[in-house]
Amino acid sequence: MLRISGVSKSYDSRVRAVDGLDLEVHQGEIFGFLGPNGAGKTTTIKMIVGILKPDQGSIVVNGVDVAKEPVQAKKQIGYVPDEAQLWDKLTGIEYLNFMCDVYGVPGEEREKRALGLLESFEMLKVVGDPIGSYSRGMRQKIAIIGSLLHHPPLWILDEPMVGLDPRSSFLLKELMRSHADQGGAVFFSTHVLEVAERLCDRVGIIHKGKLIAVNTVEEMKKLFAREGDKSLEEIFLKITEAKLPEEQLAYLAK
Ligand SMILES: Nc1ncnc2c1ncn2[C@@H]1O[C@H](COP(=O)(O)OP(=O)(O)OP(=O)(O)O)[C@@H](O)[C@H]1O
Ligand SMILES: [Mg+2]
Repeated sequence: MLRISGVSKSYDSRVRAVDGLDLEVHQGEIFGFLGPNGAGKTTTIKMIVGILKPDQGSIVVNGVDVAKEPVQAKKQIGYVPDEAQLWDKLTGIEYLNFMCDVYGVPGEEREKRALGLLESFEMLKVVGDPIGSYSRGMRQKIAIIGSLLHHPPLWILDEPMVGLDPRSSFLLKELMRSHADQGGAVFFSTHVLEVAERLCDRVGIIHKGKLIAVNTVEEMKKLFAREGDKSLEEIFLKITEAKLPEEQLAYLAK
């Protein structure tokens, strides 16, 4: 469903934000993308959805090459960015209608598709209000709903639970699971390791632009089981441990 091959990206010539990334996400799978702040998660996600161009490598989404057929590739994807840029003057319903226009959702389908999601996310009461009046969580919810109306096979979610209340967060996790179970796939980044541990079929850990571990949570635990039962949190902390360079240590010791 998603194939990332040899992808690298630098913002300036010195550091690679993403460095030689190879990764596959299969149909039916929820894949959790973990890593410390600045590891390269958002950069990777922006390349998958076509906002950033890789310096090297290729990305194929549901059989469509993102560089060669960008519009066709975008149709395969439901994307929720880490901070959605929404238009404050539009009402929620105008925004959803706009998203349907962009993705070519037939007019007669729109109400049916939006209604269930609006109801489940408890957004029916405010959908007529301007987005500028929404709370952070409401903005996140309208962004999520807007990203799903064209029924994309691959969901790409950048820290999607941030700002959601427990009920909405629970609902989103249920939607992710049922989407994967029905033959779709979900690739999402998160810092909430308990969520990753419970929800994901596989997780990958990126650190300084490089994928340093990718496996099922169970397999990762087995690999790190030498010193007893480890949680994903302990594994994560161990393999992304920050070590200060020698010269900084010397500076601190002064
Ligand atoms: N627009 C930009 N210009 C220059 N450097 C950038 C830009 N965006 C990101 N970077 C750098 O690229 C690296 C990866 O950043 P990225 O946003 O992909 O990390 P992340 O894993 O999503 O982190 P977080 O968990 O904080 O969201 C960091 O070193 C960051 O400073
Ligand atoms: Mg990020």
